[in-house]
Amino acid sequence: MLRLGIIGTSWISQEFIKAAHLTGRYGLQAVYSRRLETAQDFCEPYDSISCYTDLVDFLDSDLDVVYIASPNSLHFSQAKLAILAKKHVIIEKPAVTNPSEWTELTKLAKEHQVYLFEAARNYQEAAFQVIKDFLAGQEILGANFTFAKYSSKLPTLLAGEMPNIFSDVYAGGALMDLGVYCLYLAIGFFETPISSHYTAQQLPNSVDLYGQGVLIYPEFQVAIQAGKNITSHLPAEIYTKTGTLTLNAVAAINQAQFVSHSGEVIDLPLTPCSHVMQEEAEAFALAMAGQKETAYLEWLQTAEQVHETLYQMRQSAGIQFKDEKE
Ligand SMILES: NC(=O)c1ccc[n+]([C@@H]2O[C@H](COP(=O)([O-])OP(=O)(O)OC[C@H]3O[C@@H](n4cnc5c(N)ncnc54)[C@H](OP(=O)(O)O)[C@@H]3O)[C@@H](O)[C@H]2O)c1
Repeated sequence: MLRLGIIGTSWISQEFIKAAHLTGRYGLQAVYSRRLETAQDFCEPYDSISCYTDLVDFLDSDLDVVYIASPNSLHFSQAKLAILAKKHVIIEKPAVTNPSEWTELTKLAKEHQVYLFEAARNYQEAAFQVIKDFLAGQEILGANFTFAKYSSKLPTLLAGEMPNIFSDVYAGGALMDLGVYCLYLAIGFFETPISSHYTAQQLPNSVDLYGQGVLIYPEFQVAIQAGKNITSHLPAEIYTKTGTLTLNAVAAINQAQFVSHSGEVIDLPLTPCSHVMQEEAEAFALAMAGQKETAYLEWLQTAEQVHETLYQMRQSAGIQFKDEKE
């Protein structure tokens, strides 16, 4: 049983714990919060969990793996400390704010013999591999991936406050938050584009509310959209020489149907999972048990390519975070 520690006490951490417990491979052991009362409230549903307000004490405790779900710009420094304390690390997407941070974490994790994961849940869904295997026999002509959901924090922003998700201090924005899922599909299926570009509706701090981007491959293009001030109900589509593969969504993919130009319909065999984060929790646990060595190296490489592209797209739109402006 992996002894699990949690950084960040919002709903997503509660969801990860549910998913981790469903795998039967993790036991919640400790929680770090800036305030003791917050940690205690968070731990209320569980028995005998240690609560910490000191990050070093938390990381020195008996943990095997730390799940980090803090605001994006804090991931790197917290992950670095966790790795130095010889803990495996699962970092919520986007794991870092630029590719050099990912390279440094990868190197550090190798040196300290711990595993490093980015919790890009759509890339870890079993559906991803089924679709990738199907596409292996197809000539790709293009794709269209959209992830846009009206944010529950938008009214707060419009009321004049600055929620973390729209902040340049905390590396927020639509591309970082939701566009990253589109990039995981594009790069996971088609590898690194030769170039990429993004144009966005931006706040005065340069953070994007909604944007459209393109990934250029030698023989085709992939269009992406990411939004936090709109909701899109568009499915994802992948165009091939013989037809179109339609996915119900970019993440939590539970339907994938190919319709050929001659009208033949193929429903890919996807098995629904009881929790959208369960498959990633399971995959990470197997990797930590040494059972996914080849896949693990591929995950690290895909993450590196995703962060290179994410950074390039962000630069092309002029989205700059606070520390980059100084
Ligand atoms: N996989 C998914 O489906 C999914 C969904 C949502 C979010 N996420 C990812 O999860 C991460 C957290 O997102 P979120 O929306 O939950 O963020 P958030 O609410 O802004 O912050 C998460 C936690 O971080 C701590 N925190 C907040 N502000 C802080 C600050 N200024 N300094 C230090 N700690 C602070 C808080 O915990 P304490 O008060 O206890 O310290 C808070 O509960 C992000 O990387 C996001 O992309 C993933």
